[in-house]
Amino acid sequence: MKKFLKRLHDKLNTYAARRVNSYRYNKGLLSEIEYNLRNEFLKEVEQFGVDDFYQNYPPLKISGRRNTLSRFSVYGMQERLNKGLEVLDIGGNIGFFSLYLSRFVKSIDLVEQNQNLTNIAKKLADHEKIDNVKIINLDFKKYSPEKRYDLIMSLAVHGWVDMELDQYLKKIKSLLKENGIVLMESHMNYYSGGDDLGESLKGNSHFDIIDRGMVDDDKGRCREFFWLKAK
Ligand SMILES: C[S@@+](CC[C@H](N)C(=O)[O-])C[C@H]1O[C@@H](n2cnc3c(N)ncnc32)[C@H](O)[C@@H]1O
Repeated sequence: MKKFLKRLHDKLNTYAARRVNSYRYNKGLLSEIEYNLRNEFLKEVEQFGVDDFYQNYPPLKISGRRNTLSRFSVYGMQERLNKGLEVLDIGGNIGFFSLYLSRFVKSIDLVEQNQNLTNIAKKLADHEKIDNVKIINLDFKKYSPEKRYDLIMSLAVHGWVDMELDQYLKKIKSLLKENGIVLMESHMNYYSGGDDLGESLKGNSHFDIIDRGMVDDDKGRCREFFWLKAK
């Protein structure tokens, strides 16, 4: 019953958001690209975001649930990124975060299993003429590139990938260049049973924590993040 009510609630919210999208576009309050991307997003009930994009995209003032500029700043990305870096974004969702980051690095490969989301990412990349982000529609478990990365981002995703944490970390380590680093963000650690990634990382045999912090960009909901270096 609870599941049914949640599905109904999400369906109604998505429907209402579609109507609001058309209304705002017809009133001239939305750009054509934002209107089209939202229509695409709201075609079905998306688990991450439901009635709004999961990430926002500041260059075009497209709003979304999580704040790209806040995340960029709180993670301390300015100090870590440079134009020589090759980056992997695991579970990159609609790609708005990585498409923003693309300005500061050499290239980004984004692996996301939901095709509706990768279609949106591709459309925005085309619109923005961003050619250093490769958007790959694939389950991360099946991703086995030749390439190795300077930075791997695993943001609020490890629990969804359906791998034991140890195996997941091992796979990430195998995809890193020597001296490569990882930015790993927890899931929400609010309610009981929430993520305690710091505790889970303690004593792992693959990475040392070189920096850590908390980010509360999502309507005040907190997540922890960790910068990791291979042991
Ligand atoms: C909570 S969202 C986080 C999105 C993004 N990393 C961020 O922090 O802004 C989790 C994302 O991971 C994706 N995902 C879950 N399991 C995956 C898998 N096995 N392979 C690739 N993507 C996956 C979901 O489709 C979703 O877009």
